[in-house]
Amino acid sequence: MGRLLKITLVGALLALLGERIANFCHRLRVFTEVDPVDLLSCQLLKGIEAGSEDIDVLPNGLAFISTGLKYPSIHCFSPDKPGAILLLDLNSGSVSPSPLRISKGFDSSSFNPHGISTYIDDKDGAVYLFVVNHPQLQSIIEIFKFVEEENSLVHLKSIKHELLNSVNDIIAVGPESFYATNDHYFSNNHLKAVEHYLGLPWTGVVYYSPGDVRHVFTGFYFANGITISNDKKYIYAADFMGHTINVFMKNKDWSLSPVKSVYVDTLVDNLSVDPVTGDIWTGGHPNGYKLFSYNPEDVPGSEVVRVQNIHSDHPIITKVYVNNGSVIQATSCASVYKGQLLIGTVFHRALLCPWE
Ligand SMILES: *[C@@H]1O[C@H](CO)[C@@H](O)[C@H](O)[C@H]1NC(C)=O
Repeated sequence: MGRLLKITLVGALLALLGERIANFCHRLRVFTEVDPVDLLSCQLLKGIEAGSEDIDVLPNGLAFISTGLKYPSIHCFSPDKPGAILLLDLNSGSVSPSPLRISKGFDSSSFNPHGISTYIDDKDGAVYLFVVNHPQLQSIIEIFKFVEEENSLVHLKSIKHELLNSVNDIIAVGPESFYATNDHYFSNNHLKAVEHYLGLPWTGVVYYSPGDVRHVFTGFYFANGITISNDKKYIYAADFMGHTINVFMKNKDWSLSPVKSVYVDTLVDNLSVDPVTGDIWTGGHPNGYKLFSYNPEDVPGSEVVRVQNIHSDHPIITKVYVNNGSVIQATSCASVYKGQLLIGTVFHRALLCPWE
């Protein structure tokens, strides 16, 4: 090979690498610092020190909270304690959630809950809780029935499928069916890392029902939170590394048609919908580097973002609460219920604030 050609090739390779690294840093918002926005009279929930990754609030104000997530590259303050589902009644004025008992026969010692979703049966009002579980870092969807009188969850079913290889979050759409996001294309941990360095938009949404499992969307850098509009016509899904909330029309055959992608200037984690206004709420990460490379001297911050009128030409995007990590680190979700804003985190505390 001629010397000039070699130099050109090396130059091209370095340029490509440089471009990939610059892209990666941009997607992770490596250099972002926070500009605090405070809310008054917030209270930390009692007993939550190791995460409140996902929260789902029933129409009657009962909030389910998943805690104790263990996930590669993510810090954990309780590495030896199994995860749990906590319950808080948002009508009670209490800030002390209580753990739900799980029925015998379910292996609670390896319980590692991540995204959760409730489903209410139209026929009898029964409440089901769908939980993304990562025992030994696998991805399993657990379906429980919630028994309010006994403060317990009865385990009904575990679902594993090759298309559900790296599940992050789910939204239940039937007693046994759901949409799930996979946050990685690969299942192998090394390949997962490579996938993100290269910036491959290969993750997306899977539809599951017994007998019909398929990819319904691919094209996110890192698919994360997913939820459904109040009228049940639209699915909203977060692209964490793409910094977007994506709107899909849900079709009769459960396929999804992309409607729009809204840029929200944060690493978008979970999504929830205001049951009254239809606004979308999310917990976002200001800086992905601080999230994935935990340093107690330079902790990750938190951002709570509200998107109003997402279906209009001019959605209004507001950072409602921004904290540098002094109060809560690594927000992952936010839900509103009757004048209250409940904020969850990947591995830290949970915060309840009065809201309008
Ligand atoms: C974080 O914010 C708090 C309160 O606003 C402030 O006291 C503290 O110095 C800040 N910490 C850093 C590292 O900026």
